[in-house]
Amino acid sequence: MRTITDTAAMQAQGLAWRRGGLRVGLVPTMGFLHTGHTSLMDLARRHCDVLVASIFVNPIQFGLNEDLDQYPRDLEGDAAKCQAHGVDLLFMPSDFYPPGFRTSVRVAQLTEILCGVDRPEHFDGVTSVVARFFGVIQPSVAVFGEKDFQQLAVIRRMVRDLAMPVEILSGPLVRQADGIALSSRNVNLSAVDRQRALSLSGALRELRAQVQAGERDLAKLVARARAQVDCDRLEYLELRDGDDLELLSELRAPARAFVAARYGETRLIDNLSVL
Ligand code: PAF
Repeated sequence: MRTITDTAAMQAQGLAWRRGGLRVGLVPTMGFLHTGHTSLMDLARRHCDVLVASIFVNPIQFGLNEDLDQYPRDLEGDAAKCQAHGVDLLFMPSDFYPPGFRTSVRVAQLTEILCGVDRPEHFDGVTSVVARFFGVIQPSVAVFGEKDFQQLAVIRRMVRDLAMPVEILSGPLVRQADGIALSSRNVNLSAVDRQRALSLSGALRELRAQVQAGERDLAKLVARARAQVDCDRLEYLELRDGDDLELLSELRAPARAFVAARYGETRLIDNLSVL
């Protein structure tokens, strides 16, 4: 596995692969890799000739008071995981944004709901960095996790709207045995909060069980699930259309439950298909 830290060198390599007719796969990450990430690498591997993983903690997707400085890092461990999961090239840019960088890519509406309410600039930072990754790396296929379901929807919209020649694939959310969704941020939880945070997946699973048992009263389902979450601050728990993320006024397929909650400084999200 090669590592490139220079953005111009990365683009030269990406363009050379593309000219040579190779199908380049990309798994963009912010590092501190876990099984959720490596499962995306395994998926990408089956859809490309050369696999690139990127590790870049993107400052422009963090708000002023957010956890950019506390974002966990483990470059050595990450490199070993990439190598073990078939990555050919690890891109860890040290010079990603050119001096004078001024461009922002914004997907309207989809970015103003759910996580966009508490993190108003977050998705602009995500779409801008991903658009630049696509320009630099020239992938034919890029893989994103369903853990960040809204991010996936926003990126799909950007790619369609801007006719970017990249196929977007998604990999399922990965959980630990006790149900908690894998997240690089879980290491920042105290033992007590780690335990309380099980109530997120617990509330979503219980909501799905009630739907499966025939409950169709959306307000009741949401109120019960909200009451079950044990956290410092519940940002949202909502039932939305699993395709376009429209808020549901009555229960119909595809329905997906979304939750975000704070434990001190740590913000966790989860989602589950319920119908
Ligand atoms: O999902 C993430 O880790 C990030 O938002 C991404 C897609 C790598 C962009 O920085």
